[in-house]
Amino acid sequence: MSTSQLPSVDPTRTAAWATLQSERDALSGTHLRALFAADPGRFARFSLRLHGLLFDYSKQKVRAETVQALLALAEQCGVPAAIEAMFAGARINATEDRAVLHTALRDGSGGPRMVQTPAGAEDVMPAVRAVLAQMRAFVAALHEGSWRGATGRQIRHVVNIGIGGSDLGPAMVVRALEPDWLPHCRVHFVSNVDGAHLATTLAPLDPAETLFVVASKTFTTQETLTNAHSARAWLTGALGEDAVAKHFVALSTHEAAVRAFGIDPANMFAFWDWVGGRYSLWSAIGLPIACAVGMDGFEALLHGAYEVDTHFRSAPLGENIPVLMALLGVWNHNLLGSTAHAVLPYDQSLERFAAFLQQADMESNGKRTTRDGGAVGWSTGPVVFGEPGTNGQHAFYQLIHQGTQVIPCDFIACARSRHPLGDHHDKLLANFLAQPEALMRGKTEAEARAELVAAGKDEAAIAALLPHKVFPGDRPSSALLLDALTPRTLGQLIALYEHKIFVQGVLWNVYSFDQWGVELGKQLAGAILPELQGGPAQVHDSSTAGLIAAIAALR
Ligand code: F6P
Repeated sequence: MSTSQLPSVDPTRTAAWATLQSERDALSGTHLRALFAADPGRFARFSLRLHGLLFDYSKQKVRAETVQALLALAEQCGVPAAIEAMFAGARINATEDRAVLHTALRDGSGGPRMVQTPAGAEDVMPAVRAVLAQMRAFVAALHEGSWRGATGRQIRHVVNIGIGGSDLGPAMVVRALEPDWLPHCRVHFVSNVDGAHLATTLAPLDPAETLFVVASKTFTTQETLTNAHSARAWLTGALGEDAVAKHFVALSTHEAAVRAFGIDPANMFAFWDWVGGRYSLWSAIGLPIACAVGMDGFEALLHGAYEVDTHFRSAPLGENIPVLMALLGVWNHNLLGSTAHAVLPYDQSLERFAAFLQQADMESNGKRTTRDGGAVGWSTGPVVFGEPGTNGQHAFYQLIHQGTQVIPCDFIACARSRHPLGDHHDKLLANFLAQPEALMRGKTEAEARAELVAAGKDEAAIAALLPHKVFPGDRPSSALLLDALTPRTLGQLIALYEHKIFVQGVLWNVYSFDQWGVELGKQLAGAILPELQGGPAQVHDSSTAGLIAAIAALR
């Protein structure tokens, strides 16, 4: 294992942890309402601005002393050194012996960015810029019509075939930037090995006008290769074998596998092992984004992320938004005991944002082994979930308001809509503001009683209804307010969460950039597949064997 792994620190043995436990006890009898009432400057004290973006954490259950203790925790767990190690290209993904350099993909400084290799330090920027230039030329050719399909027709549909990090980020961004889509060419995403996904996507498409982007870092992922082979059969069945050259491109780190699939490496857009799959939308994996919004739009996305990278690397911890997001998450999860985290964009364009974050967060920090190989003695990683507001309000918010668990929420909104329509956006924003206020304030028994009296209820009805009408409040949330959802602000938003996740991994003393936990299921599926296809029965538990037999009986 690399010697440049981050040091292993038990966060619960730091002095700051003990202070945080005292803080928790000190604050336990104090309602968030009281914290607001006691400090008219609370919003100003607990909010930060960055390039037009506002981060408000004043509705978190903290006071100044809590924030000081959280910042001390960051220091004592080595967060500043870890940030520097990541940006310096150290091989901090130690279990895979790789650097973590997705920030280089969006580095607009014009300077070098070094990756540390066993042979010494290497500047990655020439290769990064070369792929960006290759992407620019390809996207221009596609939109101008100089890249045409095998029959000479212009490409009207790009189908990205990938899964996990080779799907979720680009799919989320393309959906979010719908107002920026260029005409003439639509981008589609196929990820699931369920044949329905590919079949229903291809059904309305014409092979002569369709280009497939096979996106896979490893180019070995079963789902992606299965879909890619079926897509190839669909294409060649209509246009013949020679059509592959004009209808397939690959995004990968694995040239030999791309060649073996039958894609000319000239039609491959490369990236590198220091780009983690779930952090790869900034790399060649972003090609479908560039196809949808153009290369200028893609570079604006990179620029927004670069602005946040600069902030993250240089801002003092107490003014550092991703660091504070991470610390507040640890405070809520480890000290206050919440087990879930809701991400609630009041923006329909961000309907895939929670799904993207689920992989970014839970695949990164869903770990139980410390950096020195021991068992973690603290909880890592809440369950991340979410849906756009206001839809979620009519689905799961009941539990957030009155359920027995406290679920911290991130409320995200844009001040300006890209789809202005009557007073829709005012109503959306009214809800974006009302929900966190309701969670914070709650409704006391006296307030609930007054409402029931005003509604003309008699004493018996009031006594029966009152317990159901009380909201405890004191439920924490943060707000992220953007100007409007553009490539640049979206890049900022994504980078904030990426760095939050990184800092939490440092604090929880886990390796955030590997994903060994997804391997076992893959191995077992590989063993079961031949059985489903008529091969000899393997030894299984009785449940798995029973299910295999039931499937066989039904087919
Ligand atoms: O789910 C495991 C995983 O390795 C993810 O980390 C990754 O994003 C996804 O599979 C797809 O991998 P690839 O890009 O190599 O096909």
